[in-house]
Amino acid sequence: MWNTLKEIKVFQSLSTPVRQASSSFQSSAPKRLDQIKFEKKQRLFTGFSELDSVLGGGIVKGSAVLLAGDPGIGKSTLLLQIALKMSVGKSVVLYISGEESEEQIKLRADRIKTSRNNSNLLLSSNTNTDLICEIIPKAKPMLVIVDSIQTMESENVSGLSGSVGQVRYAAFQFIKLAKTLGIPIVMVGHVTKEGMVAGPMVLSHMVDTLLFLEGEKFTRTRILRSLKNRFGPVDEVGIFAMEDEGIKELQNPEQLFLSKNDNSAMNGSILAVTMEGTRPFLIEIQALVIPSKIPIPRRVASGIDYKRLELLLAVLQKHCNIPLGGMDVFVNIAGGIKLSDPGADLSICLAIVSSFKNISLWRKVGIGEVGLLGELRKVNALEKRTRQARKLGFRDIISSEKFQTLKDVVNSLSK
Ligand code: TYD
Ligand code: MG
Repeated sequence: MWNTLKEIKVFQSLSTPVRQASSSFQSSAPKRLDQIKFEKKQRLFTGFSELDSVLGGGIVKGSAVLLAGDPGIGKSTLLLQIALKMSVGKSVVLYISGEESEEQIKLRADRIKTSRNNSNLLLSSNTNTDLICEIIPKAKPMLVIVDSIQTMESENVSGLSGSVGQVRYAAFQFIKLAKTLGIPIVMVGHVTKEGMVAGPMVLSHMVDTLLFLEGEKFTRTRILRSLKNRFGPVDEVGIFAMEDEGIKELQNPEQLFLSKNDNSAMNGSILAVTMEGTRPFLIEIQALVIPSKIPIPRRVASGIDYKRLELLLAVLQKHCNIPLGGMDVFVNIAGGIKLSDPGADLSICLAIVSSFKNISLWRKVGIGEVGLLGELRKVNALEKRTRQARKLGFRDIISSEKFQTLKDVVNSLSK
């Protein structure tokens, strides 16, 4: 009612828990650097070598991992598979789901088809943060999975499940428990338009590791990235494929983005090597250049930044005398990945030149960043990229090792 006062519970979760968080590490006297003992972190293997390497060699005991991603991308599937793989012998894995009933999880487990005896996989369909904090120590698991943090709620905090207060309270309680008991905990965080606020982002400073599972829903490929890792590399990626019977690691991910039939004989196509974390991937870049029928020609970029395309077109026009002013230009990265690596600049330019001049760049690989002056810059991990291309049988590599400027490269093609 208007103009009336109503008593509400004081919102305590935001300030108090964060202060308590550090209390377990606090002591009154500071230590000298040489007095501090360094213990090698004990790690558990998840059964997925791609995931283990993204984590930096397995999951660290007592650490908190947040697995974020769009709804339906495969987070629950991946985690249930980890739970199935790890709950063998005497190891207990506790899988808490606030989204699905125990029967639904069992159905999913049947779909994944593991032939192992998983009598040590404990399932709990639960959304009560405080109750879960009682369940965890009793179950004595080696790993706890909470799916998802947005479904957890407690009476100690105001707000509905999914609100910033509830999410932070739940995460704080679980992380504190994980640290005290030395049990690693993996929490799921959905990324939705609103969830970006209440979900992974507000938790990223609380967890040790932040992983993102991404991919287009209509393709099977899933990329697991680490955006933050206190115990391992960041920017590392793991490549998976979503199959009908669960998520699988890919055996030869290097060739993932290459189409099966060799398109590079066709004009307008060339290969590039892009780095995802520390791993090189071969990709195909396609361009189509046609005379424009409208006063302001079209420039359409898919998979690369539109502004980058405009910049490269300007460089081609100014420094290589290629009259693109009246042409429509379309550029596409085959395989549906998004490129932000400037190491693909050279290949983008060459694909455009190839389409414009109708020359084939069959089995050629371009590696190089293009500067505003038309110069070719050396990219990071050039040797690694070159090696990868050679390994896959591509020997004709165009890079800053042989050429100084984009013009030199373009001139060499016309000969
Ligand atoms: P899910 O793991 O529930 O996604 P999230 O937890 O990230 O929301 O994955 C759901 C989608 O994955 C759903 O569209 C069905 C599909 N799927 C498979 O393709 N194969 C499988 O083995 C399973 C279990 C699900
Ligand atoms: Mg799920």
